[in-house]
Amino acid sequence: MTPLLEVENLEVAFDTRAGTVQALRGVSLTVARGETLGLVGESGSGKSVTAQAIMGLIDIPGRIAGGQVRWQGHPLVGAGAPRAPRGVWGKDISMVFQNPMTSLNPLMTIGDQIAEGITLHLGLPRAAALDRAAELLAAVGISGARRRLAQFPHELSGGMRQRVMIAMAVACEPKLVIADEPTTALDVTIQAQILELMAELQDRLGLSIILITHDLGIVAGLCHRVAVMYAGQIVEVAPVEEIFAAPAHPYTQGLIRSTPQLEAGEERLVAIDGMPPGLLHPPEGCAFRARCPIAGPDCAKMPPLRAWGAGQVACWKAGTPAWGAA
Ligand SMILES: Nc1ncnc2c1ncn2[C@@H]1O[C@H](COP(=O)(O)OP(=O)(O)OP(=O)(O)O)[C@@H](O)[C@H]1O
Ligand SMILES: [Mg+2]
Repeated sequence: MTPLLEVENLEVAFDTRAGTVQALRGVSLTVARGETLGLVGESGSGKSVTAQAIMGLIDIPGRIAGGQVRWQGHPLVGAGAPRAPRGVWGKDISMVFQNPMTSLNPLMTIGDQIAEGITLHLGLPRAAALDRAAELLAAVGISGARRRLAQFPHELSGGMRQRVMIAMAVACEPKLVIADEPTTALDVTIQAQILELMAELQDRLGLSIILITHDLGIVAGLCHRVAVMYAGQIVEVAPVEEIFAAPAHPYTQGLIRSTPQLEAGEERLVAIDGMPPGLLHPPEGCAFRARCPIAGPDCAKMPPLRAWGAGQVACWKAGTPAWGAA
């Protein structure tokens, strides 16, 4: 069966004064119906740019420099894509951003903001759209939903604003929701509630989700598969159990080793030494080479993403413990 979403060899570049930033350097991934894919990696690895590219939001000075995104088999971004694909962005695919305060309109009531999309995409008149908005607020666990419709974003707590964002994201019955760090601005208890809510909506609505996060603990709880990004590329993809039980790429191994919730016991947590390479002049060969304890001469050549277990990995030495006895 055709995956819901296919990203193939996607390249995104930003033309800046200093030169061309190669933000995405051949990203390939798929999302199946009903699947949650976790997208992880250090700051600057290209997670948000991947999300923006899928949503058609790459704008000057950025451009799609190669590859394609397909939605249900049809070109959506890149070669052969229509300029304004009807009913995909905002309807079939919606997005939850990291900071609800910057993505909600401070001058519009919650009700009007939710109703706007419903009217636009589902064609419901305002009164019916407001009824649906109230239902949605109740569904995302906001009490007194009717009364909330008349409130403005600043009258809600951070956790409630993020619930409103999720209500907006699912308002038009999307097939895919892309959530970019949906809980990083929230405290831990509220985080857990929001993630539970997303899991529940996914179950109920049969959604697919791309969940972008720094937090491998969140991935372990919520995702079916995980894609690990490094320097604008996918370096490993695998089912969630596999990635934690037997991470194949040294970078994945390092990430897991430096995640507190996962490494119980006396072992010391160790961050990966060094910094990701700059993307103005990305290195030749494996981008992780300079930080990798087991890099060898082969690593001067770019390792292709190849089949590995139930997933894929881009490393010549995949499966070798990189940081001593695991
Ligand atoms: N408008 C832009 N102009 C120039 N470079 C950009 C622009 N947007 C993103 N980039 C570059 O693209 C690369 C990927 O950025 P991106 O925001 O996708 O990282 P990220 O993985 O989401 O990081 P974080 O975890 O910090 O959110 C970075 O090197 C960034 O500097
Ligand atoms: Mg980001």
